[in-house]
Formats: sequence, structure tokens, C-alpha cells
Amino acid sequence: MKGTLIWITGLAGSGKTTIGKLVYSELKKTHQNTVFLDGDNYREITGQLSSHTKEARLDVAMQIARMCHYLTNQNINVVCSTISLFKQVHAFNRESNENYVEVFIDTDIEVLIKRDQKGLYSKAIKGEIKDVVGIDMAFDKPEACHLHLKNNTKTELENNIKEILNHINIK
Ligand SMILES: Nc1ncnc2c1ncn2[C@@H]1O[C@H](COP(=O)(O)OP(=O)(O)OP(=O)(O)O)[C@@H](O)[C@H]1O
Ligand SMILES: [Mg+2]
Repeated sequence: MKGTLIWITGLAGSGKTTIGKLVYSELKKTHQNTVFLDGDNYREITGQLSSHTKEARLDVAMQIARMCHYLTNQNINVVCSTISLFKQVHAFNRESNENYVEVFIDTDIEVLIKRDQKGLYSKAIKGEIKDVVGIDMAFDKPEACHLHLKNNTKTELENNIKEILNHINIK
């Protein structure tokens, strides 16, 4: 038996962590063999907090993807929240995980700039920082995602959790 990878991707502030944690909590109730892996936590755990260049982002994204596969291969379900918007990472996930659900959290850029949880967008717009995905760094939209969800409002958030849980079909 192989686990399922639920890959929750989107720009900074789109709601990946919020959604991932809620999906994880629900799934854990019925499937003990479930873990949550957040891109920010992965960077902390592995001491890779400093670099956000395109090369560093791709490198970390591939590490996260390989870690997820390592776990699903042992029948662990992984809810993974990470930006990691690279087509080669999406392709790797699809090829390597028997059970794969790719969820694109597509929050409007105006909403992200308003939320600005980490101050990234305001600083990037003022030119104070570089390497912000969606502002001065291009990204690959997931072309073949299983779920493409808007997450601009609280109502959408609630619906998104239901939609993801409905879509997951774990034995
Ligand atoms: N649908 C929603 N409506 C309103 N606020 C939301 C919604 N979803 C998430 N939020 C809020 O937006 C902020 C960013 O959410 P979250 O931290 O989950 O995003 P993220 O995609 O994980 O960001 P990052 O890439 O920076 O880690 C949080 O304050 C969260 O409470
Ligand atoms: Mg997050």
C-alpha cells in the first residue's frame, strides 16, 4: 500500500498553510498514517532559511518532493503545503507518487497584496526586496492540477476544505 500525497501549492499568502492544516486535521481523524509537511517548516528543520533565489527555491522544492515520496512509499499520507511552483516538481510528483492530488490555491494577487502576511508584497513593490514569486519572479502555474481553487474569502476557505476532502479517496 502506498500513501497519498496531497500537494497544496500557491503563491505566498494564498492560504496553503491554513488549508493544509485543516485538511490534515480532518484526515488524521480517520487515517492515523497521515503527516503534515509545510515548506516553511522544512526550511527551518533543514537549516535552509536564507536563500530564496530561483535556484534555491527549485532545490528546496525538489528536496520536499523527494521527502514526500519517501513517506508515501511507506504508506504515509502527506499533506504538503509549499509554494514550489515549478513544472519539473509537479511532473516528479505525478510520476513518483501512485496516489497524487495536486491542489492549486489561486488567490487573486490584489487579495495577496492586501493580506501581505509577511510584508513580502509591500517590500517587493517598493523594491526593498527581490525574489518574490508572482512579483519579480515568474512561476509555473500547475497545468494539470486536480483541483484549482479560489481562496479569496472565508466562505471559499470553508468550501475548499470540503472540496479537497471530497476529492481525496484514501482506502
Ligand atoms: N480564504 C481566506 N479568506 C481570508 N483570509 C484567509 C483565507 N485563507 C487564508 N487566509 C489568511 O491569509 C493569511 C495567509 O494564509 P496562509 O499562511 O495559510 O498562507 P500561505 O499560502 O501558507 O502563505 P506562505 O506562503 O507565506 O506560507 C493568514 O492570515 C490566513 O489566516
Ligand atoms: Mg504557509
